[in-house]
Amino acid sequence: MSAMPEIAEFRGEIGAVTEQANQAFFSVRDIHAWYGESYIVQGVSFDVKKGEVLSLLGRNGAGKTSTLRTLARVDSPALKSGEIWLDGEPLHNKKAFQAAKAGVQLVPEDRRIIGGLTVEENLILAQVSGEKGWALEKIYDHFPRLAERRSQEATTMSGGEQQMLAVARALARDIKILFLDEPYEGLAPVIVQEIEKIVRQIRDIGITTVIVEQNAVAALRLSDRAVIMDTGQVVFSGSAQEVLDNEDLRNEYLAI
Ligand SMILES: Nc1ncnc2c1ncn2[C@@H]1O[C@H](COP(=O)(O)OP(=O)(O)O)[C@@H](O)[C@H]1O
Ligand SMILES: [Mg+2]
Repeated sequence: MSAMPEIAEFRGEIGAVTEQANQAFFSVRDIHAWYGESYIVQGVSFDVKKGEVLSLLGRNGAGKTSTLRTLARVDSPALKSGEIWLDGEPLHNKKAFQAAKAGVQLVPEDRRIIGGLTVEENLILAQVSGEKGWALEKIYDHFPRLAERRSQEATTMSGGEQQMLAVARALARDIKILFLDEPYEGLAPVIVQEIEKIVRQIRDIGITTVIVEQNAVAALRLSDRAVIMDTGQVVFSGSAQEVLDNEDLRNEYLAI
């Protein structure tokens, strides 16, 4: 009698493992998240392949930041149901620090550069806060502007340079997926192109990226795929090219 449930359980496990193996590298499945009584993320699902760049787009207030925060497992908004998987590992049952350990890195809109510290001190602090990623030398190779300013107090740099530092700091830890929330905000086009170049380099080394951006054209031109959100839900999911080609979609949700 007692052997039966064990076998059933074992089969269940094999089924779960096989299912996981067939899944995308990063998989968001029907997540619902709340700020207190406010129901904000209303059943969002999408998949990202390893090394892909995905644009998460939509009007102001559509729920993009809330979605990224949920995916990074920040406490607020609170995830009430749904699943998040990264490289076969569940994130939905994790806290933010555990998700970070699993390889998640969110670069929030305000960049969180630490004042009173130099560029290099910001980078070193990131390195010691997780599994070590890129060495300083490698970071400076990819970010020559930061190399020049390594001894400068980080918050005295321009917005573009601070954004570069925010991305560089993400790479100083061993990460699998990078979430960028409006990295181009307030930056001149020439600086946007520099950041874009860096995101392409990040993609080339196999790090998966989800980018939220009001500058949809700039985000789409470096993305493989796009998800458009409206009022907390996904209204479109497809290739970046499909969005660029679809005028109705752009007019309705992106104002471009
Ligand atoms: N801390 C919060 N508490 C309550 N509501 C919030 C909070 N942050 C954002 N919201 C609401 O959630 C909705 C989605 O916001 P957000 O995710 O920031 O959108 P987006 O990033 O697409 O502009 C908005 O209606 C916003 O007012
Ligand atoms: Mg936002």
